[in-house]
Order: sequence, then structure tokens, then C-alpha cells
Amino acid sequence: MKQRTLTILKPDTVARRNCGAVISRLEQEGFEILAGRMLRLSEEQAMAFYAVHKDKPFYRPLVEFMTSGPVWPMALERDNAIEHLRKVMGATDPAKAAPGTIRQQFATSIERNAIHGSDSPENARIELSFFFSAAELA
Ligand code: CMP
Repeated sequence: MKQRTLTILKPDTVARRNCGAVISRLEQEGFEILAGRMLRLSEEQAMAFYAVHKDKPFYRPLVEFMTSGPVWPMALERDNAIEHLRKVMGATDPAKAAPGTIRQQFATSIERNAIHGSDSPENARIELSFFFSAAELA
């Protein structure tokens, strides 16, 4: 069944000019790009987006990294989109990411890990609406 998920090309991907390669890979994997827009997150927006991690030791550096340059959020659609995107991204830590995954190919550390993908249908809904209006997703 068709499902939607949110991805974010993180500041390292934009800075290292890997957006084209990552988007091409996502298209090859059968994802349709429904919406997308490059933007710079404010500190407040990054803090709100990662609020679930607010008590973790990596929260502050994560917010700093995610506001360090432009990001490129996109709404993606595909069969089994959430699980498939997470498989294609690979493990959070690129050192543990399987060969051929986006993070194994493009990430440089657990923090500078190239790409975000929603981890559940509920979070996908919340995260899609964080960046895109209902009209943009229609
Ligand atoms: P993501 O899964 O997109 O969202 C939370 C992010 O926190 C995660 O990617 C990592 O980039 C970042 N992060 C930094 N350090 C850690 C850590 N030790 N464990 C998990 N996530 C981390």
C-alpha cells in the first residue's frame, strides 16, 4: 500500500554537493517526490523537530549541526515507504551502515549522517506537517 514519509537531506549532504546523487538514488528506489524545498532551519525549529531527543547528550550538537547550513526536506511516496527508506538510508552510525546504503556511501559520522527518515507512520504524519501544508501534499 502506498505510504508517505519525510526525508531531510542534512546540511552535510548539501555542503558536500551530494544532493543530486542522493535524490537520484531515492528515485531509483521508486520513491515519488511529492514536495520539497531547501531551507535553513531556525534554532527554534530544529529544537522543536528534535524535541523527542531533548534529554539526550547529543541534542545540543544535533541542533547546532542541523542549523549550520541549508537542509532539503522532501515528502516521499512509495509502497512501504517508511521501512524502505530506512533500509536504503542504513544504520544511524555510518560505520555500522550496510554496504550500498546512503549513509555508508555519504555520511561521515553518527551526527553528520547525510539523511533523515521518519521512523513510524505517526512520526511521518507529524514530520510531514512540520514542513509541508496540506495543499502542498495534495
Ligand atoms: P536521525 O535518526 O535523523 O535523528 C536523530 C539524530 O541524532 C540522528 O539522526 C543522528 O544524526 C543524531 N545523533 C547524534 N548522535 C547520536 C547518537 N549517539 N545516537 C543516535 N543519534 C545520534
